Amino acid sequence: MSLLEVNALTVRYRRTVTALREVSLTVGPGETVALVGESGSGKSTLGNAILGLVPAAAGSIRFDGTDITGFGARQRRELTKDIQAVFQDPYGSLNPVRTVGQTLAEPLLAHERREVRGAERTARVRAALEQVGLSADDAARYPGQFSGGQRQRIAIARALVPSPRLIICDEPLSALDLSVQAQILNLLRDLQGDLGVSYLFITHDLAVVPHIAHRVAVLYRGRVVETGPARQLCSAPRHPYTQALVAAAPMPDPVQQRARRRAYRAYQAADEARAPAAALSDPP
Ligand SMILES: Nc1ncnc2c1ncn2[C@@H]1O[C@H](COP(=O)(O)OP(=O)(O)O)[C@@H](O)[C@H]1O
Ligand SMILES: [Mg+2]
Repeated sequence: MSLLEVNALTVRYRRTVTALREVSLTVGPGETVALVGESGSGKSTLGNAILGLVPAAAGSIRFDGTDITGFGARQRRELTKDIQAVFQDPYGSLNPVRTVGQTLAEPLLAHERREVRGAERTARVRAALEQVGLSADDAARYPGQFSGGQRQRIAIARALVPSPRLIICDEPLSALDLSVQAQILNLLRDLQGDLGVSYLFITHDLAVVPHIAHRVAVLYRGRVVETGPARQLCSAPRHPYTQALVAAAPMPDPVQQRARRRAYRAYQAADEARAPAAALSDPP
């Protein structure tokens, strides 16, 4: 059985903008599914819907067999033990005036109604820091004392503390230098190997997909247009939009790069002619 099962999910903003249309997707235990698509295609909306941050207009989200679509605040709080998130900007998501240790202990205070005692909390926080390649003593320091890559490690450690089964990673590499991106990618992979955690890995960057994902879902204007095994989909995309996306990925050869960019723009222009973006907004 799938750990996460999204079925025909539709999400609207202000009742008029349809950000997701009948999106279906599964993530298995210990699996990484990449969600790719250009900016505005609805990737974060799907992550946020799974996290309960935006409501579903139609369709359902099941986690471990339970329909969580209509969960209220209290049930959602319980669920944060199992579903955690890592976002693009670790600095924005870490409180600068709290020590790393205080921030990492928060989920334990919230989830387990202080059942986890002080000494065990400290032990779990220290263990999470070591799991992400930091030092246990970093618990006493503040986010501002770390580099961007280290701060993303802290955000990952915070997600790990409650021992979740699924982590929504929304563009977790986008704010980082290339060399640091590779380190964080390896860390996420190693953690999955050790812990068996599942990832929904949201990215606009198709180049990272074969390095992290087992399967891919391609989102285009709020619809899933193609899914498949990661390597296969990246090397032999079937849908014209995926082909355009692959074509738009950065290439070392600038001549090839320009040719691909031209092909991509031509595809976009042709598609815009078929279905203008304005048509995506439903009448109220
Ligand atoms: N809070 C919001 N209110 C209204 N429209 C939104 C909101 N968030 C996102 N949108 C719109 O929904 C669409 C999908 O956005 P998003 O999920 O952020 O895409 P992505 O993460 O792929 O860049 C876009 O058209 C965006 O403008
Ligand atoms: Mg986004």
